[in-house]
Formats: sequence, structure tokens, C-alpha cells
Amino acid sequence: MAERRVIGVLVSGRGSNLQAILDAIAAGTLPVRVGIVISDKANAYALERAKQAGIPHLVVERKAYADKQAFEQAIDAALRAASVELVVLAGFMRILGSEFVRAWSGRVMNIHPALLPSFPGLDAQAQALAYGAKISGCTVHFVDEGVDSGPVILQQAVPVLPDDTEETLSERILAQEHRLYPEAIRLWAEGRLIVSGRRVTIEASEKE
Ligand code: GRF
Repeated sequence: MAERRVIGVLVSGRGSNLQAILDAIAAGTLPVRVGIVISDKANAYALERAKQAGIPHLVVERKAYADKQAFEQAIDAALRAASVELVVLAGFMRILGSEFVRAWSGRVMNIHPALLPSFPGLDAQAQALAYGAKISGCTVHFVDEGVDSGPVILQQAVPVLPDDTEETLSERILAQEHRLYPEAIRLWAEGRLIVSGRRVTIEASEKE
């Protein structure tokens, strides 16, 4: 079997998307290796998940560095040391700077809990409710220098129900995130994502 491609996962919190990725790998449906999990928060539960899965994990805190650039250089160095080819943002609550994004251009993915370009930024589920949207969902996209503005890889719609709260809508979206993110990473690992400007096309699998 060919050597598995290596991903690095950046987290800040509970890490349910990280868990979905680890579960897909364990189930044999996602042929990648997680080389490292990096958290900017020492108390992120995601670190515990990495530990339990036997994945190398590291805390890189912003406050340990003089500026944002030095902080991101430390993350960059750790990713490179782990031979990471794709950076997966999974609930990483920081905006990466231009230098980092340019260095990793086309090799950083994010998942956002809304159908972009609707409701970018923080509290996307609350934004969808406040707007009165009838449909929301989640988006996996490549990261560019803007906020939630890079080329869209996959999207999944979910209904917004009349009695939804932020919690119930978030839960419905999260269930889809856990399916969509491993799928997008699998397409990347199989070399099937072709980016042309803003458009990402998915090449047919050799098996299809
Ligand atoms: C998810 O809703 C994701 O879309 C957003 O942050 C949340 C992370 O959740 N970017 P988790 O840490 O993966 O559980």
C-alpha cells in the first residue's frame, strides 16, 4: 500500500470534528495519517482525544510568543517537523495571518457551520437564526487570506426548524460536519480536488 498522506489538525476546543476524522481513519474510510494535533489552548478537550488515539499533540499558546508572526512560525515549524502536507482547521478559533496562509496556499482546509458565503465569522448558527433563514448547513473550504472566504470544497444543507435554538441547530449542523469533513479530506488524499480560481472540481474516482 502507498504511504499515507499526512495531515496536521489545529484545534482550540472540544474537538468533535477531530474525533470524526480519527474515527473515519480507524474505520478505514479515510486513508490519511494525523501527524500532529496542535492546540492554542492548553485545556482543549481535543488534546485528550489526540492522546487517547496515540497521536502526537502539542500546545502552542499565543501568549508564549512576542507577536502573532512568531506564534504562527512556531505552528509552521511544528507542522513541517511532522511532515504535514495538509493543515486541517477543526474549531481553531484564530484567523491565520497572510504569511502563514501564503506559505500553505491551497493546503489549509476549514469547516464552517453555515452555507458560505452566508453567515461567515463567529456564531454562524445564531446568525442564521437571527436572519430567519429556512436553510443553513456547513461548508468545507480552502483557506485564503480572508475570513471564511476561500474556495468551497463541499457543502451540506440542513433545515432550520421553527422551534430551533442555537443549540438544536448547531447539533443538526454538527452531525453533518462530522460526515462532510472526513469526506473532503478523503477527496484531497485521493488527489481528486482540482482548484481553478474560486472553483473546486471533484475528479471522478478511478473506481467509479
Ligand atoms: C464546529 O462547529 C466548526 O464548524 C467550527 O467550530 C466548531 C468546532 O467544533 N469551525 P469541534 O471543536 O470540532 O467540536
